[in-house]
Amino acid sequence: MMKDFSTTAPPLEVHDLTVAYDRRPVLYGIDLTVPAGSLTGIIGPNGAGKSTLLKAVLGLLPLSAGWVKIFGAPLAQNARRTGYVPQRESVDWDFPVNVMDVVLMGRYGHLAPGRRPGRADREIARACLDQVQMLPLARRQIGNLSGGQRQRVFLARALAQESDLYFMDEPFAGVDAATEAAIIDLLREMKARGKTVVVVHHDLSTVRDYFDRLVLLNVRLVAAGPTAEVFTPELLQKTYGGRLTILSDVVQSLGEEP
Ligand SMILES: Nc1ncnc2c1ncn2[C@@H]1O[C@H](COP(=O)(O)OP(=O)(O)O)[C@@H](O)[C@H]1O
Ligand SMILES: [Mg+2]
Repeated sequence: MMKDFSTTAPPLEVHDLTVAYDRRPVLYGIDLTVPAGSLTGIIGPNGAGKSTLLKAVLGLLPLSAGWVKIFGAPLAQNARRTGYVPQRESVDWDFPVNVMDVVLMGRYGHLAPGRRPGRADREIARACLDQVQMLPLARRQIGNLSGGQRQRVFLARALAQESDLYFMDEPFAGVDAATEAAIIDLLREMKARGKTVVVVHHDLSTVRDYFDRLVLLNVRLVAAGPTAEVFTPELLQKTYGGRLTILSDVVQSLGEEP
């Protein structure tokens, strides 16, 4: 019998990945495996290549070298099992669509070519909006939302994709405390349902609380593994270099851990 790699292969496997802009490598020789059901944080300084890593594994950028497998296969075969929440600033919010339209975009991967979302898709979209407490604003133009509300809409769209592996780029950046709490609750619930979630994160003070695994990135992979093993002063120093002085409180509190 043939082995079913779709269930046994890890959600994400990256080998020797190099990505360059204008021939300048911004990611170099990345080897990485993300196990199923994990909540993984990607941390590293500004310009480390965190967003580039997500875009590369999602096939949004050409690879200079290496390969990416999603559940053991090239992305094209498993694109439907993969959801993406882009960095909020990277999106044009003047585009004249309402909240419901944006969430319904999450259903397009499930539609037959040329088909429009139907009643069942709308039901799913409504349930996802409800999950992020945005259903009352379903008809609001997206340009008229606060930062936290926009982030919730993005999450609802990703939920509507009904994927197994999610990539989120700084979902907590610039959101209010209530939204941050709602997002982390949602991520934990997704994990509890067996989803795999990979999150670019910049707030080191919440890293140990939020993520069970970490990827430490600065052009090269510095370390990857369980948070308790890799969130150490030494590896943070290696990742952030001189810029770690601004993070000294976090490092100091790490040193005081029992
Ligand atoms: N479209 C682009 N063209 C050229 N350089 C880019 C582009 N996008 C990002 N970069 C550069 O690639 C590096 C990594 O960027 P990015 O992945 O956005 O970092 P991070 O998300 O970790 O802050 C940075 O030096 C950035 O200036
Ligand atoms: Mg980024």
